[in-house]
Amino acid sequence: MVTTDRGRVAEVAARLAAAGVPTPAVDARWLVDHVVEVAGSCDGCGGALLDGLVARRAAREPLQLVLGRTWFRELELRCAPGVFIPRPETEIVAGVAIDEASGLDAPIVAEPCTGTGAIALSVAVEVPGARVVATDLDPAAVDLARDNLGRVLAGEAGPPLAADQVEILAGDLLAPLADDLRGRLDVLVSNPPYLPAADRDRWEPEVADHDPDRALVGGPDGHEVVGRLLALAAEWLRPGGLVVVEIDERRGEDARAAAVRAGLVDVTLVPDLTGAQRAVRARGAR
Ligand SMILES: C[S@@+](CC[C@H](N)C(=O)[O-])C[C@H]1O[C@@H](n2cnc3c(N)ncnc32)[C@H](O)[C@@H]1O
Repeated sequence: MVTTDRGRVAEVAARLAAAGVPTPAVDARWLVDHVVEVAGSCDGCGGALLDGLVARRAAREPLQLVLGRTWFRELELRCAPGVFIPRPETEIVAGVAIDEASGLDAPIVAEPCTGTGAIALSVAVEVPGARVVATDLDPAAVDLARDNLGRVLAGEAGPPLAADQVEILAGDLLAPLADDLRGRLDVLVSNPPYLPAADRDRWEPEVADHDPDRALVGGPDGHEVVGRLLALAAEWLRPGGLVVVEIDERRGEDARAAAVRAGLVDVTLVPDLTGAQRAVRARGAR
């Protein structure tokens, strides 16, 4: 952020605070900087633009949708209504996959539940030799992930990418993958829906009104998709291949048990920066 217009930021922050926005000062800086970047200043047309964006944020539309973009590891990604907005804690989950893939020669990486494509595209740009196949059940997510892929390929969204490195396919978990990849994946990484339906009442308006339900809720008890992914990992990973799946921090032991039941080995839980159990990590049996 490069804000110089402190008075304007303070005005915007006061409007956002009055509307109950949880991080008014930070959001105000982002909004003012965005308007300066796209309109040159917050006067005249820029002022009208800023006013409209602040009104949207004050109505509790997520900042990333108001800006139309977000940042994930080394990438600037487009965000769009109806598609899950990537969260900072997922950067750690992507990092586990990237660290693993970086040590391998031409690794094959699968990322079911890709949303904007954040994890798949990060793996691909940070591990130049990797082949990455990503899927999503939601056509809106597939379109947005392909759009973000196109922007990365055009050099508009981050480090360079080879044209044939990433495929984004529509469908359920690993069902769209070519059958000859079965037993050959080096890494399976995913941030699937993992919250229970009963949590809905507790969500902030930014989540409840804007992230799609199918991106958040993993079946009635929340754990259905995590369990399915771990079972698929046992089938699709090569011996010794790595799976890392983001989880509900309250379900660490359930995730560990599901991984063991699936026949995976070296099962551990991965903490995020707050110390919460953020992912389950395991290997295919050797
Ligand atoms: C929590 S969001 C994560 C998106 C992205 N990976 C990220 O971290 O920002 C979960 C995504 O999984 C997709 N999804 C839900 N069930 C799925 C399934 N059975 N197969 C493939 N994708 C699914 C949703 O459409 C949504 O885009």
